[in-house]
Amino acid sequence: MERGFAARFRQPAEWIVHAPGRVNLIGEHTDYNDGYVLPMAIDRAVWIALRPRADQLVRLESLDFHETLEFDLQALGHGGPGWGEYPKGIAWALQQSGRRLRGWEGVISGEVPLGAGLSSSAAVELATARAFAAVADLEWDPPAMAQLAQRAENEWVGVACGIMDQLTSACGLADHALRIDCRSLEIEPVPLPESASVLVLDTGTRRDLVSSAYNQRREECRTGAQAFGLTSLRDLTEEAFAAGQGRLEPVIRRRVRHVLNENARTLRAVQALRQRELELAGRLMVQSHASLRDDFEVSSPALDAMVEIAAAQPGCWGARMTGGGFGGCAVALVDREAAGAAGPRITAAFRERTGIQAAVYICRAAGGAEAMHV
Ligand code: GLA
Repeated sequence: MERGFAARFRQPAEWIVHAPGRVNLIGEHTDYNDGYVLPMAIDRAVWIALRPRADQLVRLESLDFHETLEFDLQALGHGGPGWGEYPKGIAWALQQSGRRLRGWEGVISGEVPLGAGLSSSAAVELATARAFAAVADLEWDPPAMAQLAQRAENEWVGVACGIMDQLTSACGLADHALRIDCRSLEIEPVPLPESASVLVLDTGTRRDLVSSAYNQRREECRTGAQAFGLTSLRDLTEEAFAAGQGRLEPVIRRRVRHVLNENARTLRAVQALRQRELELAGRLMVQSHASLRDDFEVSSPALDAMVEIAAAQPGCWGARMTGGGFGGCAVALVDREAAGAAGPRITAAFRERTGIQAAVYICRAAGGAEAMHV
């Protein structure tokens, strides 16, 4: 990073900032229903090395894409789609909140695979937010910054995501998953048992049109909540669902059932991890996957194959798709002793079944976005 910066600007960087990607252990498609999620920030991040400028220009060169983004803080405008909209969106959201910004220049590079369901976009957003905060000496309030980043993604980039990804990238904690109540935004750290490893299994598949399917699911959840006279499915009880489900169209009934059960599963998984009941945590992950596949219908044949292969490995307590779905990554909870051997076995079996070369990352739970003065 620093070398990349020095090569471009012939001077050392003043700040190095980074923000992690995340993997969600359980609680999928619940965040925008005001429900519960259990993600962790991972030890793969987006990094920016930078120094302030005297003017209002931001100049950011991507070392991965060999592209340079340049924009004027006093004349923000949309460009084409691409990674450049995230930093601009962050500048826009910070300015909308009344913060005064300063220009800077730097280089950006990432270790979070793109479009894989590991929140590379939230990592770019939070790293950029840290960069602006560092050079303009803004107070760093992680949850508030996460909300601004979500606003940037919703209103500037135009993706109707929930709060999970940004909150995790901002508030991650080493060796802990985060139980997040997406209504109150209360975060409770959940220690990860030392005997467990978290494996991220990238199917290498990516799907277009993810955001239209995502928006459609959001809409279906809203319809479901309305049918019960609620503003969000968070407030739906088992009893009310049992009494009223017959009135719902089959598709809506399945969506609602997923959210209701997934919230309950997430809370049980939190307890299971706290009590080191890894077998139970793994079982809940497998149930979560089945529900995402059959009721919420956001899995894919590649994800189903990956989960089935992973869950069958010795020492694997459970696996499921992670993130928005339709492609990207699965996550598995594996006995630490077995984790090293499981990776190559999973990729071999997956290649045999699908012809695709998958990637496996053993991930540690990491801290949230940080800035370092150099
Ligand atoms: C994407 C969104 C999140 C969340 C997940 C599904 O990652 O950005 O807000 O809705 O999908 O759980």
